[in-house]
Amino acid sequence: MLFSFSKARPLFGLDIGSSAVKIVQLRETKKGYFLEKFGIKPLAPEMIVDGTVMDAGRVVEAVKELLAEQKVKLKDVAIAISGHSVIVKKINLPVMTEEELEESIKWEAEQYIPFDINDVNIDFHILGTNEGQDGQAQMSVLLVAAKKDKLNEYTSLVAEAGLTPLVVDVDAFAIENMYGVNNDVQESEVIALVNIGASVMNINILKNTMSAFTRDISIGGNRYTETIQKELNLSYQDAEQAKLLESPENVNPEALAAVMNAVNAEVAGEIVRSIDYFKTTTMQESIDKVVLCGGAAKVKGLVSLLGERLGVGVELANPFNRVEIDAKLFNIEQIQDVAPQAAVGVGLAMRKTGDR
Ligand SMILES: Nc1ncnc2c1ncn2[C@@H]1O[C@H](COP(=O)(O)OP(=O)(O)OP(=O)(O)O)[C@@H](O)[C@H]1O
Ligand SMILES: [Mg+2]
Repeated sequence: MLFSFSKARPLFGLDIGSSAVKIVQLRETKKGYFLEKFGIKPLAPEMIVDGTVMDAGRVVEAVKELLAEQKVKLKDVAIAISGHSVIVKKINLPVMTEEELEESIKWEAEQYIPFDINDVNIDFHILGTNEGQDGQAQMSVLLVAAKKDKLNEYTSLVAEAGLTPLVVDVDAFAIENMYGVNNDVQESEVIALVNIGASVMNINILKNTMSAFTRDISIGGNRYTETIQKELNLSYQDAEQAKLLESPENVNPEALAAVMNAVNAEVAGEIVRSIDYFKTTTMQESIDKVVLCGGAAKVKGLVSLLGERLGVGVELANPFNRVEIDAKLFNIEQIQDVAPQAAVGVGLAMRKTGDR
């Protein structure tokens, strides 16, 4: 995560997506996780556009309303950012201690980051050591850099809502955390985690239980809505409805299916391309499975098309797999229905300040 305070304090996950704000609060006991609070509030499409907050005031209002509706008392939150302002790279460095790297990371990072080094916040994770091409031991490091203005945009928004951002994470890592806590990931498995939101798709491929490749691509659920709007001559709202409903009224089903298939092919194509790139660059012959999350993971026909294209199992993530949900407090069926959309929020809620 990009920064966090060292003391462990209870916090909740706040996922500020471009189409909806999600909150997830969990309680961790010896028996495991329990769901304490959960809520989703849609945002109008013009409020956050491609990850840029266009109307902070209305987003703050939406966050405050959601907190009030769900009676959230905690003030400490974990949030996440993603997209162009975040760079994640795996780099090799001479072996050194964590303290030494802390000192030198800024200089080491400079050549890998396309922004002015003074404009970014940097974090790193030492992944392990291996033998370099020259036979010398080297250290593999995951470098994370986020533009300070993007961080400020989100942290000040959260502060406006009366909250304290204790953890700022990256969507792709929140997903990884969500998946790792909910499943037993085997050393030998290569798993592509794909979070398909409204405007961005985050890909994180796990190998040896660690992130081996990440990429954010600017495509998501909005691409379907926008294409339906254009091709079928509908308003944005009607196009969004047409995308979600089984058989929407006043819409030519063949024309709709053709659009959905075309955009599914585009989305699947991006995923296949990233996985192919990962395979060539890491000399990986195959991957074991793909796990989809994010609201657009539920788009009609996407799971099956992707399965056909890749020839591996494709499944939907269940962020609540190891989270107990009390049927007296929540409508379980409703939560399961929107569960893929809760993936980042759950991953954030499972963060403890101080863990890295
Ligand atoms: N059942 C469904 N079928 C198809 N699409 C769906 C379904 N449910 C939600 N979506 C789509 O998922 C998207 C919202 O997903 P999500 O909440 O993960 O995105 P976000 O976090 O707001 O966006 P981003 O991360 O890109 O900023 C919207 O485009 C929405 O139309
Ligand atoms: Mg999202």
